[in-house]
Amino acid sequence: MKITVVGAGNVGATCADVIARNEFANEVVLLDIKQGISEGKSLDIWQTAPINSYDTRTIGSTNDYAATKDSDIVVITSGLPRKPGMSRDDLISTNAGIVNSVTENIVKYSPNTIIIVVSNPLDVMTYVAYLKAQLPSNKVMGMAGILDTARYRAFLAEALNISPKDIQGMLLGGHGDTMVPLPRYTTVSGIPVTELIDSEKLNAIIERTKKGGGELVNLMGTSAWYAPGAAAAQMAEAIAKDSKRIFPVCAWLNGEYGLKDIYLGVPVVLGKNGIEKIIELKLNKDEMNLVNDSAKAVKEVMDVYDKMK
Ligand code: NAI
Ligand code: 2OP
Repeated sequence: MKITVVGAGNVGATCADVIARNEFANEVVLLDIKQGISEGKSLDIWQTAPINSYDTRTIGSTNDYAATKDSDIVVITSGLPRKPGMSRDDLISTNAGIVNSVTENIVKYSPNTIIIVVSNPLDVMTYVAYLKAQLPSNKVMGMAGILDTARYRAFLAEALNISPKDIQGMLLGGHGDTMVPLPRYTTVSGIPVTELIDSEKLNAIIERTKKGGGELVNLMGTSAWYAPGAAAAQMAEAIAKDSKRIFPVCAWLNGEYGLKDIYLGVPVVLGKNGIEKIIELKLNKDEMNLVNDSAKAVKEVMDVYDKMK
């Protein structure tokens, strides 16, 4: 199993580190346009192997895509992160150019790869990669839902004073302030979360989750990387191990949830073929309205990109 991570910045390097440590790939190639950074970071990660006791080989490459040849999975993290005051959508023109050229190079050397996009604005950058890669839609997906549900689960664990391991949550929609955390599909070791927390506290957690990325941008002056890197690595792991895990993933919809020709976060089964199934939840009217609002917001940014092309 060979996995390439494009972009050796905060998210990409963290993702490569988690992939290497968890030993589900033999080789991780880290590629960046900046001279030396990917070679340096992959060497540094490789030097943790004796300490952390693993044997995944990490290799760096300054923009030489020959090193990525025959990758089974490629994670694209290249692109500008947000600064305080910016929305994810403000990044569209710069990051679309980057994701386009990266995808073109990737498929040249790995024509059957599976692509996981992380660059923002996430739903639209996944669309950009899909259009450029010309791969089937089950092979091009975006990472957002695992991160957003992880934030939701972490906030719930804190509020309930219980282990985050026991909290399952589901969330639909785009990776933005319109995302839709679903209390009806949130359980704590099988117990509906609504039996453990009052609605006012739960609503406050949902609102904090929706703005979870912005909270970190305001604290750090740039966007988060530990949880995003680990989340992208978790998707790669499910694909590499063919483990059929169910996660919220940004997927191309073809009529599911009554939506078509749009990338949006939905529950999927991840296995060796990428997205092996999209799961359609039986949403009530209020939940469906929220998903439609989120789809509308994503579609507006997709339209901006379509006009730019
Ligand atoms: P960063 O600035 O630390 O790293 C980005 C890297 O991309 C830099 O090292 C840069 O040299 C590289 N790069 C730029 N153009 C390139 C090209 N053409 N080819 C190869 N490499 C290139 O940024 P960070 O924090 O790692 O974030 C990366 C992206 O991920 C941003 O767009 C950010 O908004 C997004 N993000 C998405 C999340 C999600 O949930 N989907 C969560 C966190 C970040
Ligand atoms: C995040 O949610 C900014 O998308 C990035 O942390």
